[in-house]
Amino acid sequence: MAISVYVFDAYGTLFDVHSAVRRHAGAVGPDAERLSAVWRAKQLEYSWVRTLMGRYQDFWTLTEQALDVAFAACPSADPARKADLLEAYRSLDCYPEVPGVLDGLKKRGCRLGVLSNGTADMLADAISAGGLAGLFDAVLSADEIRTYKTAETAYELATTHFRVYPEAISFQSSNRWDVAGASACGFRTIWINRAGAPEEYVDLPPAATLSTLDGLLSL
Ligand code: LAC
Repeated sequence: MAISVYVFDAYGTLFDVHSAVRRHAGAVGPDAERLSAVWRAKQLEYSWVRTLMGRYQDFWTLTEQALDVAFAACPSADPARKADLLEAYRSLDCYPEVPGVLDGLKKRGCRLGVLSNGTADMLADAISAGGLAGLFDAVLSADEIRTYKTAETAYELATTHFRVYPEAISFQSSNRWDVAGASACGFRTIWINRAGAPEEYVDLPPAATLSTLDGLLSL
C-alpha cells in the first residue's frame, strides 16, 4: 500500500532528550550523562508500568518524578538544578536534519503527524522551540486516551485521525520498543537508531533502519 502519511515519535526521534542535561552539564557535574540516562529510563519505565496497571499519570508528571529519582541515583548532582533541567526539557534541541526532512516530505504532498506520550503542551513547546510550527497536520498525544504506547489504542490515534489503514502510515521512532508496538499494529515502521543500539524484538522488525532521518526521503 502506498505511504501517504508520515508519523513521528517525538522524544529521541525529533528531539534530543539528552540536550536538557547537556545544556547544564557544567552545573550538574561529573554524573551529568548518568543523570540523563536514568531520567530517560525512569520516564519510560513509568509510562509502561502505569499503562499496565491502569493507573495513568500524564507524561509531564512522570518526567518530573523520573528526574527526582535520577537525582537520588546521582548524589553528586545538585537537585537545585531541577527547575533548570525541567525548563530545558520543554525546549529540547531538535535534531539537525529534522526540518529539512519534514519540508521534503511536505513538498511531496505527504501528510505529517506526531504521535507521542508527551502532553499536548509539552509537544507544543517542543515543536515551537524546534521551529517546526505549522509543519504537522496533526500532533497526537497519548494523553488524549490516558494510555501510553505500546498500547494499540495509542497507535490507533493516528489511523483514526488520518482515516487511513495502518499500512499507509510510515512510523518513525528512535525507540526500538516503539517500533515494535507500531509494527504490531501494521504500520510501516522505520527505526531511527541514533544510538547504534543492538537489534531486539526480532519478531516485530522495522521495514528499514536508519541512523538519522536523513535517509527517509530515499526509501
Ligand atoms: C514519545 C517518547 C516515548 O515521544 O519517545 O512518545
